[in-house]
Amino acid sequence: MSDLALYLRTLEERVDPTALFRRVVGAPCDPWQSDMLRSRSPFAMVLASRRIGKSQTTGVLAAQTVAAPERTVLILSPTLSQSQLLFKKCLQAWQAMALPIQKTRLTQQVMELENGSAVVCVPAGQDGESARGWGVKNGGILVYEEGAFIPDAVYDATLPIREDGGRILMITTPGRKGGFAHRLWVENDEIEKITARSTDIPRMAEKVTFDRKFMPPVQFAVEHELRWLGGGGTPFFDPRTIESAFTDTPELELGDIYATR
Ligand SMILES: Nc1ncnc2c1ncn2[C@@H]1O[C@H](COP(=O)(O)OP(=O)(O)OP(=O)(O)O)[C@@H](O)[C@H]1O
Ligand SMILES: [Mg+2]
Repeated sequence: MSDLALYLRTLEERVDPTALFRRVVGAPCDPWQSDMLRSRSPFAMVLASRRIGKSQTTGVLAAQTVAAPERTVLILSPTLSQSQLLFKKCLQAWQAMALPIQKTRLTQQVMELENGSAVVCVPAGQDGESARGWGVKNGGILVYEEGAFIPDAVYDATLPIREDGGRILMITTPGRKGGFAHRLWVENDEIEKITARSTDIPRMAEKVTFDRKFMPPVQFAVEHELRWLGGGGTPFFDPRTIESAFTDTPELELGDIYATR
């Protein structure tokens, strides 16, 4: 295919990331996915259920963004394995675009292109050290993947990476109350907020029914219904377990144990 024919074939995908999504995933976007892909907000946050398509959508967004010149998409994930998985999704979407733009460098976490753009997926760690040195400006995006599981210290160290014209996108399932992601979601009126709840998505109905039956209710509430967890303590206690720990039965005394011998 000539460069011109290729350019014409991919023209729609260059301007409309939802068209690229449809070809990469083989299915149309859910409404929250097109909101996320088309957002132009300087700071957007997506609060989303498990397995709903967060990473896939981020991968398509990254690929479509770097098709234009001089853009950096820097993605921070809580762990190394999450950032490696996400990098694969970005690469897959980039290969699917099949644009005549050469890679000038490819490692397990960085893809640099001859148009001056780059996708970088690094683990956030405890202090965001691995993101040091990168800048995100003019059409680039700084993405926090699973942002509710990234320590506050990382935000202090990495928010300055965004420069003029750069955007910030946080995409996450709910975590514990009180952290940066939770405060942003409940207290900040200036960011764009997008909600992606599995119980609203028809293609997820079977999974939702299964998980409702077999998951501990608190976990279901967090992972499907987007409920934030109370601060402190051990996560994922079933409220019925907690309730049964507080009964009206008088406390057992040591003497009682010996008395049963
Ligand atoms: N609109 C869609 N239509 C059909 N399938 C989709 C759609 N969006 C995502 N998927 C598929 O759903 C699966 C889960 O996607 P993905 O891994 O991106 O979810 P996730 O929200 O990141 O999951 P996790 O909570 O495990 O991180 C993938 O196979 C993906 O291709
Ligand atoms: Mg994911």
